[in-house]
Amino acid sequence: MDVLNTLYSFTPSYNHSFRAQSPIGSDSWPSKRTLKSPKSVIRPQILIGYTSCLCKRTPTSPESAIRPQSPVRSKAWFFKNAPISLKSTIHTARRRWNYRRRRLSTSAIAQPLTSPLTESFSPSNEDEVEEEKDMFKWFEHWYPAAPEYDLDKRVPHAFTVLGLDIVVWWDKEEQGWRVFDDSCPHRRAPLSEGRIDENGDLQCSYHGWCFGSKGECKSIPQAPADGPPVHTSKRACAGLYPSVQQQGIIWFWPSTDPLYKDIALEKMPPLIPVLSDPSFRSVLSMRDIPYGYEILIENLMDPSHVPYAHHRLASNSSFWKSPRRGGKPLDLRLQNMDKLGFQGEGEKSSTIFVAPCIYVSKSTFTPSKEGKSQTLKSGTEEEKMKTIFLVFICVPVAPGRSRLIWAFPRNFALWLDRALPRWLYHIQQNLFLDSDLYFLHLEERKLQGYGQTNWEKACYVPTKADAFVVAFRKWLKKYSNGGVPWGTKFSGLLPPTPSKEQLMDRYWSHVVKCRSCKRALNVFRALEVVTQVLSIVFVGMLGVMAAIKRTPSTYLYVWNTLLVASALICCLTSRWLSQFIYKTYYFHDYNHALVK
Ligand code: FES
Ligand SMILES: [Fe+2]
Repeated sequence: MDVLNTLYSFTPSYNHSFRAQSPIGSDSWPSKRTLKSPKSVIRPQILIGYTSCLCKRTPTSPESAIRPQSPVRSKAWFFKNAPISLKSTIHTARRRWNYRRRRLSTSAIAQPLTSPLTESFSPSNEDEVEEEKDMFKWFEHWYPAAPEYDLDKRVPHAFTVLGLDIVVWWDKEEQGWRVFDDSCPHRRAPLSEGRIDENGDLQCSYHGWCFGSKGECKSIPQAPADGPPVHTSKRACAGLYPSVQQQGIIWFWPSTDPLYKDIALEKMPPLIPVLSDPSFRSVLSMRDIPYGYEILIENLMDPSHVPYAHHRLASNSSFWKSPRRGGKPLDLRLQNMDKLGFQGEGEKSSTIFVAPCIYVSKSTFTPSKEGKSQTLKSGTEEEKMKTIFLVFICVPVAPGRSRLIWAFPRNFALWLDRALPRWLYHIQQNLFLDSDLYFLHLEERKLQGYGQTNWEKACYVPTKADAFVVAFRKWLKKYSNGGVPWGTKFSGLLPPTPSKEQLMDRYWSHVVKCRSCKRALNVFRALEVVTQVLSIVFVGMLGVMAAIKRTPSTYLYVWNTLLVASALICCLTSRWLSQFIYKTYYFHDYNHALVK
């Protein structure tokens, strides 16, 4: 069973008949409901670039999956290959022992000021050395490039993930998305600025070299036909990243090394079962965010900021309606943590972080009316509860930059998906991102002054409402030295802060890569032009009527009044559309001091 099934079948805390007992990654989670297996729920996996579809879901590392193992097993090998639950147990015991030893040896020494939640945050040097061996391997996991539905298949798309520049393009021949290194082997022009040619190959726009679905160079226009076949050289190939499409998202493995070309046969991206459950509906969306992965995740793990930072953006529950001085204590509890993530529980919610990208929170509340939904009619009590999942997939892009892919699957108000257009969901949800975007960008710069590993010194977090944020920072410090390892590609400095309008720009961060929003924007622009033209036509007709100088009559009076009213309505509509387009697709400010 996939790790995320644990959350999928999780019952909130007020139902005492079930409590989480097993560490993340274990197959032994008890479940009250019979789940469809992920494989039977999702549509068949598409393995891009490779022919076989026989995927084993094993948590083996790429090296162990591909390289032959030595017959003599060392202690390290056994630990590395032990079941995750066993590893977690060993780790916990080892850490407890070290922690007790440290407490004994340092009890007489003055301790730095810490809050209750950050107590024991800093591991000793000994622990650090020991845990070096078990650091999180950022380049040995799948990463999402983008949701596939909203990508325009006619053009290549540029993305940056984990500091890698990639180009995602639609391969007509194999009917799948390809992920290449966004760099032409000829003179390193970005392939994302190229085009998909008549043969369905990716063509570089600089000198016209063409590349097929496996990165092979199909043609070099400058090479003489009767000369040596220079295009067959390995050096003429584009870098190919292994990629798969799963649950509407294009995932890629962050290495072009041929060692990993069959990685999808050994290890697939994590499944999020609720995204494939037909009794839940949701819309996937994506946006580039002008602050880093660390800030993005900790913000999403922090429910107590919602009534303040997103004030008046939603009004369908008492939580959202609560006044901005009406925050209340939140009892968030961390349940377990290991290298692969952690799991926690709130009053009526449960959450899971599956490193490095996935954070899912499940909330269950008031039972829906009996018989309201056919899907729920014959279900268990748990199924009749209104349940909403917050699915966040957080992508590290570069220092100070990240990308969020999200969906909110729910088992109620399912008709909304048929009634509302996709772009409306995107726009509404972008409002939430906008309202805390600017100050989170600034917060990141303030935190940087304290250093990557000093988060606990910079922040005072005395309440349980911050338990998941603290847990994430602990995870980051323990398994990744406090941040994403960017290597030498970046200077370590955050990008400069542009104007607020540029920072909160929606067009380049979302619309330009979203087919649904771009199409809606074109329709609104066309409407704006039509209303402008109509208002001019009506004014022109008024002029013609005046020029004719007919005898005044009631008929003429009514006709003139109608023309004036129509011209005015068209003019105002055009003005309104212009404002609407700007606020919806370009820049929507949110001033916390002025929102009542
Ligand atoms: S740089 Fe791509 S063809 Fe020359
Ligand atoms: Fe969109």
